[in-house]
Amino acid sequence: MTVTDDLRGGIVVCGIVACRLTGGAEEFLLPALRRLEYRGYDSAGIAVTGPGQGGPHTVRAVGRLDALLGRLAARPLPTGLGIGVGHTRWATHGVVSEANAHPHRDCSGSVAVVHNGILDNADQLRAELTRRGHRFSSEVDSEVVAHLVEEAGAGRLVDAVRTAVRQLHGSWALAVTSGRAAEVVLACHRSPLVVGLAEDGYVAASDLTALLGTVGHVHVLQDGDIVELTDQISWTDGHGAALPPRPPVTVDWAAEDAETGVYEDFMEKEIAEQPAAARRLLERLLPQIVDGRLWAGLGLPPVPAVRFVACGSSLHASAAAARVFRRVAGLPTTVAVASEFEPEPGFPDHGLTVAVSQSGETADVLSAVEAVPGPLLALTNSPSSSLARRADAVLDCTAGPEIGVAATKTFTTQVIGGAALGLAVAAAFGRASPAAVTAHVAALARLPDLLDAAQLTSFPVADALADDLADAPGFFFVSRGAGLPYAAEGALKLKEITYRWAEGIAAGELKHGPIALIDESTPVVVVDSGSRTRLNGAAAEMRARGARIIRVGAEPEATFPVLAADEPPWGPLESVVALQHLARSLAITLGRDTDKPRNLAKSVTVL
Ligand code: AGP
Repeated sequence: MTVTDDLRGGIVVCGIVACRLTGGAEEFLLPALRRLEYRGYDSAGIAVTGPGQGGPHTVRAVGRLDALLGRLAARPLPTGLGIGVGHTRWATHGVVSEANAHPHRDCSGSVAVVHNGILDNADQLRAELTRRGHRFSSEVDSEVVAHLVEEAGAGRLVDAVRTAVRQLHGSWALAVTSGRAAEVVLACHRSPLVVGLAEDGYVAASDLTALLGTVGHVHVLQDGDIVELTDQISWTDGHGAALPPRPPVTVDWAAEDAETGVYEDFMEKEIAEQPAAARRLLERLLPQIVDGRLWAGLGLPPVPAVRFVACGSSLHASAAAARVFRRVAGLPTTVAVASEFEPEPGFPDHGLTVAVSQSGETADVLSAVEAVPGPLLALTNSPSSSLARRADAVLDCTAGPEIGVAATKTFTTQVIGGAALGLAVAAAFGRASPAAVTAHVAALARLPDLLDAAQLTSFPVADALADDLADAPGFFFVSRGAGLPYAAEGALKLKEITYRWAEGIAAGELKHGPIALIDESTPVVVVDSGSRTRLNGAAAEMRARGARIIRVGAEPEATFPVLAADEPPWGPLESVVALQHLARSLAITLGRDTDKPRNLAKSVTVL
């Protein structure tokens, strides 16, 4: 088994790291936290200790990791301490403040805890602990764990953590250390955690990305596991019974996969990686579509109807893929916003639900699929995620690590994976002629070259436009039919990383109200799709009111001439490359952080 088979699930809001090394813990914890910063960047902290060294010595700071590094430079921790835990936070419980930053400690300051997840019974536990005399110093649910460990007594730390964990409801990945014990204890329940052997001891993290370059393989904790890291590793269950170590999983991502390399930022890198990601996915899927193997390999029952469930960019990718199910396979297909999901009246109980999520950890999606009775297929970049584990079948997007908060290559591979799936259903059940399926497969095969060409064309055009657009307070993204998901995606990308308002809208809807917003300062991005007649009419109406039209089309005179002449059933996917570059170039002009936009995190594990 390899990491890309089994590990990418470990993705949640916030990031935790831990180590038990013979060398200095700081030298591991800080670079590892840097790699996890994309999971949350409101505040960060570390705690270190060593045999007989007291502590844990804790430093926390509000803001990005650089703020923590500044603190450490001003007030260094004792050097050479090899035991430590660290955390980078995206606030869910409690405001962004130093008191709410992890690690959290008990009343005596001798237990330090970092936690990912949500503790559903934290309020009740806090009230009980307070009644028993514990003093809390934060508003954060995680702090109850430190006090529960403290209360469990002065015996072995691993037993105290086990006692504490038994009282928790909710989800947790925990790393706990104590000044009294030269060890780290890990525990997990519905929140990912991996552990591996580095050159000078054990290292653990909530996300494999933190460990790239440090370990050759890792072990994935399963729900209920308690792992004790001393100068060796021991696995037990919630009752203290010894467990064999979980099987090793080879780390097949390179350290460079999580570095920007020659690119300015991860978003630029990940936009540029789209043709290669598309090629990799298509090389795997295309040979299996026409002969029915792709569908048969999923092991799902016949499909009377399909519903997609997703959020954000994944929702837009779902809308593009759903057209293939409708138009080519002729199946009734709906697309639902996961946070609003209710089983549709009349949808057959054995209809197929396709949950689309790059992380596979999005709480809205996980909550929506709890209610579906029929088969569930996960279309995800994280094949060991909670979603994938819950699903009856998984289609892996194999996009590689996506570090930028804005979805780019995961969106593209979701559209391709979803379209391939629609064609596979059409082929397997004879719902389209073999000739038609073969023609669509050939169109899919052309996508990597189209994406390559769009990448080459779009960067300089977007770069040249950005200065002119910098003062525009808001944008429209307009299209029709198969182009609508891409207009919506373009608007989302722009909002997310430039903090300018943007609306993705059907061209025909503009005249029913939104056109009142248009004046000389309004850029309107038109994504060509289907017949141009009505789009041209809408563009002319907006131009007459002073709007600046930015056209993404097939004709050489388009602002971004990146589209193929013939439109496939999944619509003008190439357009998204232009839209991503437009958003990124404008964000850079406006001085925004393209990879870590404000208020956002890579994966939203809260409802
Ligand atoms: C996209 O740029 C966003 N970061 C966001 O809309 C994202 O697509 C959404 O939160 C869904 O995430 P998922 O694919 O991990 O479920």
